[in-house]
Amino acid sequence: MNSLLSLDRALMITSLTRLRVSRVLVFSRRAVALALLSGCSVVAQTPPQSSTSAATLPKVLVIATGGTIAGVQDAPGTLGSYRAGTLAAEQIIASVPELSRHAIIEAEQFSNVASTAITPTQWLALSKRIETVLRERKDLAGVIVTHGTDRLEETAFFLYLTVRSDKPVIVVGAQRPATGISPDGPINLLAAVRTVVSPQAIGKGVMVVMDDRILSAREIRKLYQRTGGFSGGEMGMMGVVGASGPEFLFAPVRRHGEQSEFDMRKVDSLPQVEMAFSYPGGTGPRYDKQPAGIAVQSNGFTRAESETYTALRRAGVVVVTVFAGGDNMSSVGRGGGPAPVAPPNAAARRDSARTDSSVRVDSTRTTRSPTDSARTPPAPPMVTAQHLTPAKARILLMVALTRTRDPREIQQLFLRY
Ligand code: SIN
Repeated sequence: MNSLLSLDRALMITSLTRLRVSRVLVFSRRAVALALLSGCSVVAQTPPQSSTSAATLPKVLVIATGGTIAGVQDAPGTLGSYRAGTLAAEQIIASVPELSRHAIIEAEQFSNVASTAITPTQWLALSKRIETVLRERKDLAGVIVTHGTDRLEETAFFLYLTVRSDKPVIVVGAQRPATGISPDGPINLLAAVRTVVSPQAIGKGVMVVMDDRILSAREIRKLYQRTGGFSGGEMGMMGVVGASGPEFLFAPVRRHGEQSEFDMRKVDSLPQVEMAFSYPGGTGPRYDKQPAGIAVQSNGFTRAESETYTALRRAGVVVVTVFAGGDNMSSVGRGGGPAPVAPPNAAARRDSARTDSSVRVDSTRTTRSPTDSARTPPAPPMVTAQHLTPAKARILLMVALTRTRDPREIQQLFLRY
């Protein structure tokens, strides 16, 4: 029975790929079902089957970027391979007629690619587009971004830092293709729409809604490639989406949304920030072209790594250390609030010892390179990322570098966001 249903669904979606649909979509289940059966265009603006009339429903813009949620298999209804980023935004929306009970959905195609093709250039363009549309369209309740799951957490966090609006933005994906058996995209999209129209979602920043969970884009991480694979780690969930709708339990308190100081309107490209790893016997990276910053995943440097990163800092590269597990509770401020910003001389004297927990424990042996003699001025301090994954520390550093190159100021930004 289930596989029959899935095959039906696969045929439905395959026929949908031939449909041309209007840009503004107000579908009833019946209208869509008829269109699917006949394979003709969906153009009817049928009022939704809801006690709320179409006129009073909130408006939501779905911006599609691609991913498995838009994926189509060579053999629909199987567990076989698929091409991510195949269905158009309108097709994804039309495959979930239930959406029309909760919102008037508008569709916009930003891109249609696997998310590995999404780069910082696209982050910037997407962030600018969302901020503009939320500013100009007072009638919109919020924006949903459909996205591949491989790079979802990075795009979501960039938007969290840079979209300066209190209106909700939800990023949603799927781990099974739209034509597959029991696809998760439709239920995730429905949960995203129900959440984005909730008054409780206002001011909560960019969120990811997947697998009935509401997660902050700041904490979200993809743990595995199966449904249920997105988690907020030890920071947990903001809420859940049950049969009766979204239920919020927690809200992020770090700066985001309207309070963000990261204005991307005049930023044309993001500074080059590399990622590096520290490991036993490591010596640190060498670059032909020096980046503006490096986020280095480290639980503690070797002597050689310490020398390399000291030299890079002297050369003007901002170095952020970040724990592999994404949490580094005690590195800054010694077990509590933010560290006071030390005056330059004192900060310089303490240098690395203040900014990397492992280094602090044994600063004389692990951080003082031969070049750090009494005659050489100390290197600018390292920055410590608290409670961020390495990938997200890199993104915050990229964004921070659009405002300042001073590591002390950047440390303060890391404590605020
Ligand atoms: C992608 O990230 O585009 C493919 C994988 C997925 O969406 O789950």
